[in-house]
Amino acid sequence: MLTPQARGPLSDRVLAAMRDGATAHLVQVPEAEVAEDAQLTLWALYEQHYRGFDDVPAALEWDPHLIAVRRHLEEDFERILRDRTPPAPHAEPFAETFFAYIADHDGPSVAAHVQRAATSEQVRELLRHRSIYHLKESDHTTWAIPRLSDPVKAAVMELQFDEYGCGDPDRLHAHLFALGLEASGLRREYGSYVDDAPVEILEQNNAMSLFGLNRRLRAASLGFLAAFEATSSTPSRRMAQGLDRLGFPTAMIDYYLEHVEADAVHEQLAVRTICGVLLQEEPDLLEDVYFGAWTSMDLEDRYAERMLQEWAA
Ligand SMILES: [Fe+2]
Ligand SMILES: [Fe+2]
Repeated sequence: MLTPQARGPLSDRVLAAMRDGATAHLVQVPEAEVAEDAQLTLWALYEQHYRGFDDVPAALEWDPHLIAVRRHLEEDFERILRDRTPPAPHAEPFAETFFAYIADHDGPSVAAHVQRAATSEQVRELLRHRSIYHLKESDHTTWAIPRLSDPVKAAVMELQFDEYGCGDPDRLHAHLFALGLEASGLRREYGSYVDDAPVEILEQNNAMSLFGLNRRLRAASLGFLAAFEATSSTPSRRMAQGLDRLGFPTAMIDYYLEHVEADAVHEQLAVRTICGVLLQEEPDLLEDVYFGAWTSMDLEDRYAERMLQEWAA
């Protein structure tokens, strides 16, 4: 993957410095005037820790000037996300309270639109946007694993083993999504569509990396995971029905069908064992578990609102 198109003066400066290695100039960088300039810059800086860019030297992964820009951007981003988050419910038992919190959350649904009314072109746009995440599905959770106790680590590994295909590279969820893209006539290469991604998609991806890459935010990472899994099974069924209605290829439908069953299991594991045990061990992390959970649902709502409005226009 090559570096993406800049979206403002900040990303322009930072991406140029990443390509030519002249990062010392970044001591003074322009402030982003629009959110997508900051979010794209942060996305590109995080990408250095995943698979990186073909036009950026790998040695820059831990470049202190780039890390300084990343720290500045992620502090701003974390503040924005925390400001958006309501106080956590403290009722016991945790799992039942958490499931009720998810069930009570009422947001707009892209999947419901796909199921009933979306056009093929709208769905293709959606798949391009989703590819930013699904082609590296679950990788952000992997960052958190070394920061966990043995019982929580074992449960996260059980879930990740499934996401990563249970040892079969053809069953990796990211691979299933790539097959679906290819069969749908879309590009399957990782990062192909980042220039098409609206700011809400960049925020979703950046939140996952923010939580995964900062040890102090491990509870937010697992809360995000739990809410993500607990809000996936029904939308996946709707997506599969909508794709079938529109005559999309079986490979694309299969990706979503896989998640109807899998995520019904994953949500139990993520809420009861992963977050449940984490909170038995460290009850003070409750607010952060809900910070991650809220962020997962809220960022999806923001994306859905934007796309449903655009598609209705
Ligand atoms: Fe998955
Ligand atoms: Fe899952």
